[in-house]
Amino acid sequence: MPIRRRPPDLLRRSLLAAPALIVLVPEAFAAAIVTPAQTRGPYYPVAKPADSDLDLTRVAGRSQRAEGEVIEVTGRVLSARSGPVAGVGVEIWQADNQGRYHHPRESAGTADPNFQGFGAVRTGAAGDFLFRTIRPRFYGSGAFTRTPHVHFRVVAPGRPELVTQMYFPGEAMNARDALFRSLPGEAARDALTAVLEAADLPRYRFDIVLA
Ligand SMILES: [Fe+2]
Repeated sequence: MPIRRRPPDLLRRSLLAAPALIVLVPEAFAAAIVTPAQTRGPYYPVAKPADSDLDLTRVAGRSQRAEGEVIEVTGRVLSARSGPVAGVGVEIWQADNQGRYHHPRESAGTADPNFQGFGAVRTGAAGDFLFRTIRPRFYGSGAFTRTPHVHFRVVAPGRPELVTQMYFPGEAMNARDALFRSLPGEAARDALTAVLEAADLPRYRFDIVLA
């Protein structure tokens, strides 16, 4: 008795249909790699500011806005296995428009008093977060020059914390930054490089994928 074969077109269709059954998370996320960790660096706040909200461009009780180009940094925290994670603590800290941190290691009083320097939020139901801040300036000199970057600390319940850094797309200094260069390959560098979504008020998207 001859072996019955499935008609080729039916077989092809079932193969094409198969990925749709397996992929339970959005396409853009399915292709993403787990976000690489990077050093915390020396400038994590010793004392977090009283005003630690999502808007780093204004400090409560002060009338002036922070110096520099205002930007938004937005994204989602995703689990590599199960998609968006709600209720995750996301912290950022960064240099100001002169490349200075609010930290005892800086010369006292040199950081912009109108710049909050640190912000903390929790992700929403879709794993989403948003900060309003300024584009940080580079700092350091010679081989120790740091390209503009934003530090992130992500604390999800039941998981080890993730500390990493976000870089800006199209920034020429990235190629000379020792920490950026130390990332193992293009996929890792892409994972830590934000995507410019809107240019009028520059909005950078930085999705974070937890293992
Ligand atoms: Fe830094």
